[in-house]
Amino acid sequence: MDSSLRLRAITLNLFLGLLITLATLDPTFCSGVSEVHCIQSERQALLKIKQDLIDPSNRLASWAVDGNCCQWVGVVCNNVTGHVQELHLQSVPPPLLELFSIQAQYEAEIQAYARSMFGDLSEVSDLQHVTNKVTSLSDLCLSHCNISFIPTTPSVNSSSLTTLDLSFNNFGNTLIPFWVFGHQNLVSLNLSANGFQGPIPIHLRNMTSLRHLDLSHNDFNSSIPNWLYNFSHLEFLNLRVNQLQGTISSAIGNLTSAISIDLTSNELGGKVPRSLGDVCSIKEIKFSDNKWGQDISEILGSLSRCVSNGLEILELYYTELSGHLTEELGQFQNLVQLSLDGPNFPSWICSQKHLCSVGISNANITDAVPSLFWSMSSQFNHLNLSHNHMYGQIPNIPMVLYISSMIDISSNLFEGPLPRISSNVSFLDLSDNLLSGSISHFLCYKMTELKEMELLNLGKNRLSGEITDCWKNWEKLLVLNLGNNNFTGSIPTSIGSLSLLRSLHLFKNKISGTLLPILKNCEDLQIIDISENQFAGSIPSWIGQRHSSLIVLNLRSNNFFGHIPKELCNLTSLQILDLSQNKLFGSIPRCVNNFSAMASISQNNLQDLLVVDGDTVDFERASLVIKGQVREYSTNLQLVRTLDLSKNYLSGEIPKEVTSLQGLQSLNFSFNILTGRIPENIGDMVSLESLDLSENQLSGHIPPSMSNLTFLSLLNLSMNHLTGKIPSSTQLQSLHESSFIGNELCGPPLTDNCTINDAKPDTGKERSKDSGGREVDWFYVSMAPGFVVGFWVVWGPVLVNRRWRIGYFQFLDRMGYKLSCVVGKTW
Ligand SMILES: *[C@@H]1O[C@H](CO)[C@@H](O)[C@H](O)[C@H]1NC(C)=O
Ligand SMILES: *[C@@H]1O[C@H](CO)[C@@H](O)[C@H](O)[C@H]1NC(C)=O
Ligand SMILES: *[C@@H]1O[C@H](CO)[C@@H](O)[C@H](O)[C@H]1NC(C)=O
Ligand SMILES: *[C@@H]1O[C@H](CO)[C@@H](O)[C@H](O)[C@H]1NC(C)=O
Ligand SMILES: *[C@@H]1O[C@H](CO)[C@@H](O)[C@H](O)[C@H]1NC(C)=O
Ligand SMILES: *[C@@H]1O[C@H](CO)[C@@H](O)[C@H](O)[C@H]1NC(C)=O
Ligand SMILES: *[C@@H]1O[C@H](CO)[C@@H](O)[C@H](O)[C@H]1NC(C)=O
Ligand SMILES: *[C@@H]1O[C@H](CO)[C@@H](O)[C@H](O)[C@H]1NC(C)=O
Repeated sequence: MDSSLRLRAITLNLFLGLLITLATLDPTFCSGVSEVHCIQSERQALLKIKQDLIDPSNRLASWAVDGNCCQWVGVVCNNVTGHVQELHLQSVPPPLLELFSIQAQYEAEIQAYARSMFGDLSEVSDLQHVTNKVTSLSDLCLSHCNISFIPTTPSVNSSSLTTLDLSFNNFGNTLIPFWVFGHQNLVSLNLSANGFQGPIPIHLRNMTSLRHLDLSHNDFNSSIPNWLYNFSHLEFLNLRVNQLQGTISSAIGNLTSAISIDLTSNELGGKVPRSLGDVCSIKEIKFSDNKWGQDISEILGSLSRCVSNGLEILELYYTELSGHLTEELGQFQNLVQLSLDGPNFPSWICSQKHLCSVGISNANITDAVPSLFWSMSSQFNHLNLSHNHMYGQIPNIPMVLYISSMIDISSNLFEGPLPRISSNVSFLDLSDNLLSGSISHFLCYKMTELKEMELLNLGKNRLSGEITDCWKNWEKLLVLNLGNNNFTGSIPTSIGSLSLLRSLHLFKNKISGTLLPILKNCEDLQIIDISENQFAGSIPSWIGQRHSSLIVLNLRSNNFFGHIPKELCNLTSLQILDLSQNKLFGSIPRCVNNFSAMASISQNNLQDLLVVDGDTVDFERASLVIKGQVREYSTNLQLVRTLDLSKNYLSGEIPKEVTSLQGLQSLNFSFNILTGRIPENIGDMVSLESLDLSENQLSGHIPPSMSNLTFLSLLNLSMNHLTGKIPSSTQLQSLHESSFIGNELCGPPLTDNCTINDAKPDTGKERSKDSGGREVDWFYVSMAPGFVVGFWVVWGPVLVNRRWRIGYFQFLDRMGYKLSCVVGKTW
């Protein structure tokens, strides 16, 4: 139970981690690492500071006597002079005061950032104390400090402070602390996410030195004041997520230094003034989620004067804009990201001459792809059109300039035959479309050329015919997915050339023959999923010697027959073994306890998830039957451990060795002809969430230890010859009656209340010595934990699944499409 709880905690952390990343607008701000060498005297000074700090959890362990202090935690050196330039000490509120005073004392050129993610400065009337002591403070970053009150008259030396960051605090509806306005030399002011209300305060009016003003994520509800447009030094203006009203004045053209203006999610209306086109320095315009009442071509027209060349980001989604995109967009040569509503393919992309990376994923586009676009495809090294509703045929892409190119067109409605693809492509995902016909022309195209392909996913289409014997030059393949198609015939021998193959998915086809060609040569395989096919033959005993790296072996629903060889137990990395729905007979090998990966939950064998283009690729999939439902596991595969031998002709007893598989979450031996007892120590399998022993000939009582299985949310013991009383525990009694029917059992949840059996003394031979004592214990032990059951299987995949996470981020960003040109890629 402990281990499963740990597992959950990890997941939860992961999730919290994500939220925190989301909440931190700029995670790189206030942190840094330097590689220069530090100055001896400053190292001494830092060590002295360390002595004065209270550091119970030893965060400053890296601050050791020797070593380069520029590489110590929280220390940032000037990258040229090597002087210590910044100190970042997270969540250490008490010593904050000391740090500031020490700093004053040493008069080093140190800028102190107190960035306390978890610390709580709400108590500090000290802040005044702090700021008063510091005479030459230039940057003050008190973000995420839970400050709700700042004294009104601190006497900070107003001419020295240039950066003030009070973002993500808790001022509620109090006014902006008045002393802020005293700092008229401020260059950067960040007041975001504080719950400020009312108009943008007029007291900001004289802070004309500002280059960076962030008032985002508050409740300011005035119009944008005219004086703001006179801030001629302003480069970054962020007013995102407020309730600003009215229109934008044409004076916006006076923000001549502006690089980025973000007005997303306000209640602004009217027209975007033409004068915005005079702000020639601008690179980012984010005006989404407002109520502009005009034609998009009008906006593009005004921007085309001098802005078009430098503009990198233009966001205008949820804006009630009308009209069509015109060829005018072709002038925006440096556009990296354009976000608009609109289900049409952005055909203006076709006029972009230097585009080498196109990402139009998840943009809800329902359209055909123009042939002009496909004809540009030779210049792409990264093409992602996945998760749309694009249709039509995919033409051949015989030329791609870049080696290691990546093409992801998955999850669309493309139909017709597979395209021929350039040998330079190393990642190709055409899965989840309506592609049909044979694979021959695809596989055998330019047969003599070495293919760069490492990941090939053609799964979930309507491909048919035999898998042609043309694999000789595909020797770089690491992952191959042909699952969920209509392939027939047997596996060709040349597939043995794929000596690097780690992951093979052929599930849900009509492939017959034996496994031999794969097993003989592909010795690095970690995942074999050939479930739901017509493979036959026996499971060779040497599989255990040759394939020691196997993590997933899924042979479900085929025609394999014969014994389960005991040599299979040599597969010590195996986490998922599914031999169900075959014609296997004989007994379950006693050596199952050799599956050491199933015996622990800490071991993690799925090594280095494949990385393409700096991104982990969600390519490792396996479908499993757990709790009676087929589920697809992807990135979290490494956390899953299951053993399924159901629907065969296995006989004999359940080996008691199986109970040592304490990491196993799902065990299914149902629909066999197993006899004897349920192992007495079944309760040792503490991770079990699903246990199905139904439709066998098991006899004896239900071991009392079963009440220890507090994560168990699916149990099926029905259709056996079990007798006696169902042990009582919150867990077992909460199950459905049909978990126990077809036996001679009694007690809740069954209606038969053991009235007859109670009379019988239920002691003696049926129970082993130690379990008698335990029966008394478990009742108390297992009363409470039953409630947390089922969390992992239901929520686990969602929390860890990367695609889902991406979906979530995209939802938050409401990102439409993304275009970029990656410079310096290999040719
Ligand atoms: C040093 O840092 C500055 C500011 O962070 C940066 O602009 C500059 O390129 C860096 N120089 C070197 C040599 O890394
Ligand atoms: C305030 O800072 C400026 C510039 O750093 C300095 O010249 C001046 O002496 C300081 N004033 C006080 C009162 O400390
Ligand atoms: C702005 O918000 C303040 C405080 O919530 C409220 O009193 C005022 O009426 C609002 N003004 C407008 C124009 O919505
Ligand atoms: C802004 O400066 C002007 C003149 O320099 C001064 O009269 C006015 O009071 C200042 N306003 C604020 C809000 O500080
Ligand atoms: C822009 O600034 C100039 C000079 O500061 C001023 O004369 C002009 O009125 C401003 N334009 C608008 C539209 O406010
Ligand atoms: C199981 O493991 C034991 C001890 O590690 C070893 O001696 C035995 O040969 C293994 N059995 C099989 C069938 O792999
Ligand atoms: C166990 O396997 C059988 C046959 O393969 C299947 O019908 C059943 O749903 C599985 N039980 C669970 C709990 O997954
Ligand atoms: C248990 O298995 C039997 C026979 O396969 C089935 O009828 C019953 O619905 C299953 N019960 C549960 C709770 O899965």
